Amino acid sequence: MWSRLQDLRRANAADIGAIMEIERQPGYERLVGRWTRAEHERNLAQPGFFYLVHDDAEGLPDAFFALSGLGNHNGDTVMNRMILRNPGQGLGARLLPQVMRLVFEGFGARKFLLRVAPYNERAIRLYRHCGFRDEKILPKAGRRPDGEQIDLLLMSVDWDRWSEQENAANS
Ligand SMILES: CC(C)(COP(=O)(O)OP(=O)(O)OC[C@H]1O[C@@H](n2cnc3c(N)ncnc32)[C@H](O)[C@@H]1OP(=O)(O)O)[C@@H](O)C(=O)NCCC(=O)NCCS
Repeated sequence: MWSRLQDLRRANAADIGAIMEIERQPGYERLVGRWTRAEHERNLAQPGFFYLVHDDAEGLPDAFFALSGLGNHNGDTVMNRMILRNPGQGLGARLLPQVMRLVFEGFGARKFLLRVAPYNERAIRLYRHCGFRDEKILPKAGRRPDGEQIDLLLMSVDWDRWSEQENAANS
């Protein structure tokens, strides 16, 4: 099933340093949460929790995804993180469809969820373009590194919508 990922590979503990650097880029504190090394290690050890990374031309990670609930058919499959070192160059639009193929085709998920800050317009445009739809605002569901609580927008795409989109793209 991992062969669905042309441009991504499964991350391991050796990637955590690079992942933490990507997470902590200046300006990203408004956009994404940050996990400590111990939290990343705990995530990597959890069943159904997978990290994927994209490597740049030098072989260094420049993007990562954290996914949870994979293979758990009674629960939600969630994209906890999608973070790129160099945003706005089309890499997100290339990688996210590969991740969605892994989630739906590879793991048989029925629904794929994410939470995003409602002012993160670039991310929301990309998610809508990939078939995600707004579900609802979750009041004070997120916390920035400075402790401020923020509302989050819950977005989702289900298997029917995803497969319609895939069929349209391949016809
Ligand atoms: C959000 C993020 C992952 C998106 O990846 P990206 O590579 O920057 O996104 P892309 O350049 O592929 O695509 C985004 C843009 O292209 C547009 N786009 C991409 N493919 C498109 C298509 N086929 N048709 C129309 N629009 C398209 C999107 O609407 C969006 O518009 P904008 O950048 O002009 O505002 C990246 O910007 C990032 O890491 N940001 C910081 C961390 C973050 O916010 N993560 C998400 C937290 S939920």
